[in-house]
Amino acid sequence: MSTQAIYLDHNATTPLDPRVAQAMQRSAGEAFANPASQHGPGQQARRILEAARQRIGQLLGASAAADQVIFTSGATEANNLALRGLAGQPPGHVIISAIEHPSVVGTAEYLQTLGFEICRLPVDTDGVVQVDALPALLTPDTRVVSVMLGNNETGALQPVDRIAACCAPAGVPLHTDAAQVAAKLPVNFQSLGAAALTVTAHKFHGPRGIGALILRGGVPLRPILFGGFQQGGLRPGSEPVELAVGMCTALELWDAERSERNGRIAALRDGLERKLLTGCPDTVVHAARAARLPHTSCLSFTGLDRQALLMALDQAGVACSTGSACASGSSEPSPVLLAMGCDESLVGSALRFSLGATTTAAEVDEAARRILHVVNRLRDRNKSANQSRLAPLEPSKTL
Ligand SMILES: Cc1ncc(COP(=O)(O)O)c(C=O)c1O
Repeated sequence: MSTQAIYLDHNATTPLDPRVAQAMQRSAGEAFANPASQHGPGQQARRILEAARQRIGQLLGASAAADQVIFTSGATEANNLALRGLAGQPPGHVIISAIEHPSVVGTAEYLQTLGFEICRLPVDTDGVVQVDALPALLTPDTRVVSVMLGNNETGALQPVDRIAACCAPAGVPLHTDAAQVAAKLPVNFQSLGAAALTVTAHKFHGPRGIGALILRGGVPLRPILFGGFQQGGLRPGSEPVELAVGMCTALELWDAERSERNGRIAALRDGLERKLLTGCPDTVVHAARAARLPHTSCLSFTGLDRQALLMALDQAGVACSTGSACASGSSEPSPVLLAMGCDESLVGSALRFSLGATTTAAEVDEAARRILHVVNRLRDRNKSANQSRLAPLEPSKTL
């Protein structure tokens, strides 16, 4: 058996598309200068940077005339900037959903230490935010609401346009973390109605180290970094031109190839789930009734321990994860599955498989075979361990 690793962890990060690497290499030559420099090479770098910024905004449905694309180091920084920048000074009230990424949860917890009150919008058993609960949570002191566009663990898509419709009459800005959705599904910032939207390039076969916060025109945002005039002072620091070009190229490639990629990826993901359900009928598919990202599958193999399963699958050559890359490594149960009301055995046995544009049918077939083999082997081992524990003791001899 070949044990070459089959990579099914694209929600953690995706391999760089070689065409993106080429575009970055070209721009690193043409635009090596600092785009803030006033000389010719600096202006050349500025032109290339601004063209990438404008095209990224256009591909994500931002208004070229009004909205701003603020480059950051990735989604974690964009989420920090959005929450802290929109919340402003305490006191005040911040609402996040119960299934946000650790970078939103951690920022909200930081805001709480500053004196903000935080509350969480609940989700249903499919991991979809309960919009009806929002109006009662909004107060005159609410500074920002943050609800992600698609969940990184289950893939469940969130009704952000309906949430925006609740926030608008209250005059509360809505932030949405679109890190897992941008590029893979069409995102139209203007029609979503959010005040700010987070993206990150390494989730869509672009480079690591660049993301953006798209900010609606006229929405006040306080910076979280200081000491430079770049990007209107909202995110100071020299802009990474070749990373911006890479992000733009990766988005353009998804835009051009989206329907082909998504049809193929969704069919592969559905095929993987079908094979696992056939081989292991008690497998539980999370968020199964929700509209889901086509590349994400969160499954529980009841009776098994997710950490033991992850290790055994890694040895068998399947790279997957137990949840968010920012939380994996921790043995904490998934807050997302807990918020969905899953019991301990479902939470303790859940793994995430996520596919990318380069995933092939042969990889999915082989991965399903390896997963079933590992699941059955671990179950047999658990069964014989239980049987030997329960075996009657030899009757004690009477003297
Ligand atoms: C929904 C979501 N938000 C934010 C992040 C953080 O992204 P980055 O690695 O670009 O900081 C991730 C990455 O796992 C994510 O899935």
